[in-house]
Amino acid sequence: MKAKILFVCLGNICRSPSAEAVFKMKLIDHGLDAEVEVDSAGTSSYHEREPADSRMKSHAIKRGYELTSISRQIFPSDFDYYDLIIAMDDNNYHNLIGMAKNPSQKNKIALMTEFSENHEGNIPDPYHGGSQGFETVLDILEDSSEGLITEIKESYF
Ligand code: 4NP
Repeated sequence: MKAKILFVCLGNICRSPSAEAVFKMKLIDHGLDAEVEVDSAGTSSYHEREPADSRMKSHAIKRGYELTSISRQIFPSDFDYYDLIIAMDDNNYHNLIGMAKNPSQKNKIALMTEFSENHEGNIPDPYHGGSQGFETVLDILEDSSEGLITEIKESYF
């Protein structure tokens, strides 16, 4: 059975669509793309049905990541469907913990930088800042995704 991973941020237009694209590329690099299903969502519905932020897209494509996802708010059913629900920052994390209905759902929730050896805490929200913020998002995601690959190889396969 496929492992299923959902990345979550606030708007689902900057960080989590990037997490989805970066991690999918890592899965291809490791020959695991057929074994893992990946999606992303927002805790809010602010940008429901919008494509990813154009600034985030242009920074991502320079590193070879095409952001194709369309924003959606997280569904209650996601907490049963996915094996791992990965928050981009502490706010997202605490909102997700608040939405989870039981210990099994809560246990699926993690913070993205838990998988990084070089970064801890939040992936800062780049939406209201300058272009360096988008590069920082990609740097932290690339690093954390490598650790996440190691983690799922140990836990799922
Ligand atoms: P994201 O970034 O959570 O990484 O998609 C944001 C997008 C939109 C807003 C905040 C953060 N907003 O306030 O609309």
